[in-house]
Amino acid sequence: MRIVLGVGGGIAAYKSASLLRLFTEAGHNVSVIPTEASTKFVGAATWEALSGNRVSGSVFDEVEKVNHVRLGHEADLIVVAPATADLLARAASGQANDLLTNTLLMARGPVLFAPAMHTEMWSHPATRANVDTLRSRGVLVMEPGVGRLTGTDSGAGRLPDPKDIFAAAMAAAAPPQDQAALSGPLHGKTVTVTAGGTREPLDPVRFLGNRSSGKQGAALARAALDAGAQVRFIAAHMDIPAPEGVELTRVETALELREAVHAAAPGSDVLIMAAAVADFRPDTHSDTKIKKRDDGTDPVITLVRNPDILAEAVQRRTAAAGSTAAETGHKPLPALIVGFAAETGDGDADVLDYGRQKLKRKGCDLLVLNRVGSSLVFGQDSTEVTLLSPRDSADTVPLTFTGSKTEVARRIIARVAQELEAALPVR
Ligand SMILES: Cc1cc2nc3c(=O)[nH]c(=O)nc-3n(C[C@H](O)[C@H](O)[C@H](O)COP(=O)(O)O)c2cc1C
Repeated sequence: MRIVLGVGGGIAAYKSASLLRLFTEAGHNVSVIPTEASTKFVGAATWEALSGNRVSGSVFDEVEKVNHVRLGHEADLIVVAPATADLLARAASGQANDLLTNTLLMARGPVLFAPAMHTEMWSHPATRANVDTLRSRGVLVMEPGVGRLTGTDSGAGRLPDPKDIFAAAMAAAAPPQDQAALSGPLHGKTVTVTAGGTREPLDPVRFLGNRSSGKQGAALARAALDAGAQVRFIAAHMDIPAPEGVELTRVETALELREAVHAAAPGSDVLIMAAAVADFRPDTHSDTKIKKRDDGTDPVITLVRNPDILAEAVQRRTAAAGSTAAETGHKPLPALIVGFAAETGDGDADVLDYGRQKLKRKGCDLLVLNRVGSSLVFGQDSTEVTLLSPRDSADTVPLTFTGSKTEVARRIIARVAQELEAALPVR
């Protein structure tokens, strides 16, 4: 999605850097338009570096590109954060005296303002009238947060949390009734997706974790939503927010994730296990912080194996096969179970061999194989995956997709829809 992020001249301008990050990490292309006043708080270099796009607040830069018309026309969504009292006034009265206000007048998609200002400015009759005018035109104006303001005072006027602005922006951009999703290949189906990396506690402050960012799982959930599915999203630790529109369950450890998967699987048509689940956990964890000992000895951490959740899901389905849901009184288990493998090759075998061995061991219906290394896959925006199916013969050349995690997720979901169609009649 193309997003214009307008930044007004308030102290909270720096918080928009986190908002920008949330947008770019979710795969959106963001053009930042700062007002002149805002550049006294945060400079254009920050916005250019974080967005990867040229930044200007003036209609007279890059005139050949007609930015004052183009940016508003092309934007799928415009978010103004922080929206100053001045910007609300200029937008309400239809002024066009800088690039941002020109862009607002050219907007074709939703517009969201996230105000930040002192309580007196927010409650002033002029600002109230401007907010009413904007809302009456369909513009979304968030309520500011309540709390500590710039000085020693506090009250209504804080910029809403960037995560809340992000969520409101995504909700604003989502069509009320997505026609494409209604006719999508997974319409009427329920897909459970696990995402992120589990954390196994050692004590109240330390844990054993992994580098999973949750981006691939989130992209899969979004692709499944776009294909019309209801999505149950089980999120271990993620660097990005969970996608809008999913039924969200947050978990921390592998055992919690296991419980959530076994609760979500009945009634799901597809189970996609994209989370990076710890193979091992410390055998005990301390309720108090583990301290350095005076006698000079150091603690030893003993690891125990975590259950293999993917293999368990397959076993449960096998055990239930043969008896109908009506007989057992349980909802049917997923017709399609998709595993993920993050593998590195070594002297004994290459990545593909390890992937095939894993597919056989787990017994799932599709295995998405990632080649991992220090700079590959984890936390990155692009990826390369190979799809392995138990139906492939030894000389089948497996399908490999390369691209952004969003694009790769779309292709995996398209394949999932095909496999599901093939699997359903034999349920
Ligand atoms: C330190 C400082 C903090 C400010 N914070 C805010 C603010 O949070 N909200 C606001 O509406 N104006 C704030 N202002 C006033 C705006 O910067 C001023 O109204 C400016 O003209 C806004 O321009 P813009 O709307 O084009 O960004 C602040 C000014 C200063 C000097």
